Amino acid sequence: MEQARPIGVFDSGLGGLTVARAVRAALPAEHLVYLGDTARVPYGTRSAHTVIRYARSCAAHLQRRGAKLLVVACNTVSAVALDMLRVELDIPVLGVIQPGARAGVEATRSQRLGVIATRGTVASGAYVRATAALDPRVEVFAREAPLFVPLAEEGWVEGPVPEAVARRYLAPFAQEGVDALVLGCTHYPLLRPVIEAVSAELLGPGTRVVDGAEATAAALAALLEDRAMGVEGSEPGGMELLVTDLPDRFGEVASRFLGEDVSGLEVEQVDL
Ligand code: DGL
Repeated sequence: MEQARPIGVFDSGLGGLTVARAVRAALPAEHLVYLGDTARVPYGTRSAHTVIRYARSCAAHLQRRGAKLLVVACNTVSAVALDMLRVELDIPVLGVIQPGARAGVEATRSQRLGVIATRGTVASGAYVRATAALDPRVEVFAREAPLFVPLAEEGWVEGPVPEAVARRYLAPFAQEGVDALVLGCTHYPLLRPVIEAVSAELLGPGTRVVDGAEATAAALAALLEDRAMGVEGSEPGGMELLVTDLPDRFGEVASRFLGEDVSGLEVEQVDL
């Protein structure tokens, strides 16, 4: 049965679990296969050519596992490889940039929107294009914040180190009058409390910090409904975790990011 097949979700590492979490909350009966390319993280500092090659191998692996649909839970891949994946794959492919831009456009009142993302995502101009398509009056100020990625992967998400990094990255937005900030990288929501505290301090207490995870899950639910691809019944769906490097700490850290205990789940190491 087509509908009973899993939804494939992939990211360069752990960050995409924030998207998987939103998908689990919105569509609890769906079965998910999550692939974190932990052997090759980070993607955000690499060339578009390399990211496209990595994205192809992740997508091919999830297709071999029978995925009925693919969620690209990585902003960098969504920024540089989404069109290619849509052309090459014969299953629907959803990215996170458009939903992230939508969340930003809905959050800003000053129509001056800050975006923090990886170098690759900022260089691609994907957020500027996606925002302009939604509301051309909104001006986007996009900056890279690469150090948040290893901090999130390490689980170093609070205290003076991430605070100092956040201050350094967010200070330039203060001159631009932004009143909303999009976390344009799937790893950044793991540092949300620090980013929110520092944006309130530097950009003003009313600054809204948003990400595309929930909007992505909503877009996914609409797509499943439209194409009659949703799983039948209300039994809770399963979750498979795949990684490309040693799986040792992944289950434990994944539980924190997913907000559910998956530490008992076997994490499978795959070769792409
Ligand atoms: N997952 C990536 C993204 O959302 C960030 C981490 C990386 O650089 O690989 O852009």
